[in-house]
Amino acid sequence: MADKAYSGKRIVLGVSGSIAAYKAADIASALTQGGAIVQVVMTDSATQFITPVTMRALTGRTPLVGVFDETTEGEVTHVSVAENADLLLVAPATANIIAKMAHGLADDMLSTLYLAAKCPVVIAPAMNTNMWTNAAVVTNVDRLKTLGHRFVDPAEGYLACGTIGQGKLATVDEILSVVESVFEGDKVTDLAGLRFLITAGPTREPIDPVRYLSNYSTGLMGFSIAEAAKERGAHVSLVTGPSEVAIPHVDDLVRVETAEEMLEAIRARFRQTDVVIMAAAVSDFRAPKSEQKLKKSAGRSRTLELHETTDILAEIGKNKDRQVLVGFALESEDLIENARQKLQAKNLDMVVANSVDEENRPFGEGPSRVRFLLENGSELPLPLMSKPEIANHLLSYIKENLLTQE
Ligand code: CTP
Repeated sequence: MADKAYSGKRIVLGVSGSIAAYKAADIASALTQGGAIVQVVMTDSATQFITPVTMRALTGRTPLVGVFDETTEGEVTHVSVAENADLLLVAPATANIIAKMAHGLADDMLSTLYLAAKCPVVIAPAMNTNMWTNAAVVTNVDRLKTLGHRFVDPAEGYLACGTIGQGKLATVDEILSVVESVFEGDKVTDLAGLRFLITAGPTREPIDPVRYLSNYSTGLMGFSIAEAAKERGAHVSLVTGPSEVAIPHVDDLVRVETAEEMLEAIRARFRQTDVVIMAAAVSDFRAPKSEQKLKKSAGRSRTLELHETTDILAEIGKNKDRQVLVGFALESEDLIENARQKLQAKNLDMVVANSVDEENRPFGEGPSRVRFLLENGSELPLPLMSKPEIANHLLSYIKENLLTQE
């Protein structure tokens, strides 16, 4: 699960009686999967479109419908739920619930709970176009906006009443991104004040003007780490080899081609850096570059003379002072033994050991299974995880185990 800004937040999802109420099931499910604690509150008419049983199955909590209903935790009705809520999301919101909220009516659980809530409110309306543009509804919406409530406006489309126009509930993704933005300010910034130098992608070692030696690295692992470190408040320098994947926004981006260029970019930044994470798949070999394109010669075979590139990590490992050095070890056999050997040989503080076999494909978007090895002998095997998940675990592990003495 990628870290959502609403992870761990208590969200009250108010569902009112629109034909779009069935979409509230997707919203409840996505929020729950993203780590939110979701309490559904339904109006009577909402229960005509979707059952409380469905919502309970998706959230693990009994929805509140009647004003005197109790929650699964035995909390006493509207006041305690409202007080504990981090967000009230009303989706879909009918013209009726919008009117009640705008005028302070409290004749059902949702409107009553709204009056008792002090948390931010997000409203995603769904209704017929004529209702949405009706002056009374427009006035009510404006009134709620002046109270600071956020609206996720309905989209244009085919409506249940058979017409085409604005009124369709916004997509689940749009609604979730507004929910995320409410909590953006609460994000963890545990890496603030630290300078990270992260490498990503393959390097390319030219053979002649049109050919090169490289590998299958996509850059995704390094990009996920750079993105997560930036989100957690670090100053991030990202040195990347050629990649087709979208590069995250960082403080300092350097694009390189060869191992030599990557080494230079790292040398220039090493002294000011607190943590170096070498996720790049640096090419181990290069060939002397021919100025002219190598030509075929009547079926005769040709030998390419390969020289080892500089081992960047080993090089900076010799000169480290306070820097934390983290390397990756990609192995097809004897994972732990080989990874530990790299840890020592390159003077690293930590290695992320990654095996490449039938089950585990470290390149590309798929999940992988890695193991953290520390210089002091400790070890942490992780379950199968996506790259953003591995990135966040890695940063937390570094923070807790290697940066504590700062
Ligand atoms: N690395 C490096 N410079 C190189 C080659 C690798 O800095 N010229 C770094 C990688 O970025 C990675 C670590 O060293 O963090 C281990 O890389 P890996 O390819 O697993 O191992 P190698 O040291 O190249 O050894 P081998 O290929 O023989 O397994």
